[in-house]
Amino acid sequence: MIDADAVAIHLNFLQEAIQPEGNVDARGCLASITEVCKAIKKPVIVKETGAGISHGVAKQLHAAGVSAIDVGGLGGTSLAAAEIYRASAEGDELCEHLGHLFGWDWGITTVESIVECSVLPLPVIATGGIRTGIDVAKSMAIGADICSAALPFLMPIIDDEKVNADKVIAKMNELCEELKVAMFLTGCKATHELKDAEVVVTGETRAIMEQRGFLARLNMAKR
Ligand SMILES: Cc1cc2nc3c(=O)[nH]c(=O)nc-3n(C[C@H](O)[C@H](O)[C@H](O)COP(=O)(O)O)c2cc1C
Repeated sequence: MIDADAVAIHLNFLQEAIQPEGNVDARGCLASITEVCKAIKKPVIVKETGAGISHGVAKQLHAAGVSAIDVGGLGGTSLAAAEIYRASAEGDELCEHLGHLFGWDWGITTVESIVECSVLPLPVIATGGIRTGIDVAKSMAIGADICSAALPFLMPIIDDEKVNADKVIAKMNELCEELKVAMFLTGCKATHELKDAEVVVTGETRAIMEQRGFLARLNMAKR
């Protein structure tokens, strides 16, 4: 109807599990995604909304026929955590409690999700906590093809309580300049060359990737 270029199906199980009116009957979701991929002639993107996507789920989505994965990882805006404020406004103590328990920390981080999804032959969109051009460069260096962000472009609107396109454009230009500097300093002339940029993974992310066998795959991909 709107001649869209693609459709994104969002996965928000965590949010539904926390919402007072949440629908927690997830039977048949993968079959429905498969059906949509078969039925429509447009690319289907599947995206998370703050809890990330694992390798296992990415494999199932690939088999279902999706055209790209938007990881929507932990570490950025969490629709589930947003439910805390709604529950507290409605005096729903249980949902508020569940929101605090799960909303902020449950899930797979954007970094891990990118690495776990990008081993599949599918474009990966890095979303969830992308705030600077360095985040964009790092995301592409560990396997993402595209990056997306929401909150950084909403902040000028939230601050001013009105839409100020100039501020949004300024934010976009700032991000692009940051990315250009990161590319210059890693010797990348084009964004796809960032895939070959050397990376070092440290801390908790390294420990998790090692345990899940993805650190070796990342290093292998870099050779
Ligand atoms: C105000 C707001 C509303 C959102 N609404 C939706 C939505 O309706 N469907 C959806 O899939 N994601 C929604 N998102 C999630 C974004 O698409 C994105 O996955 C998320 O914000 C992570 O990116 P960020 O950390 O850059 O904000 C929303 C995000 C924000 C901030």
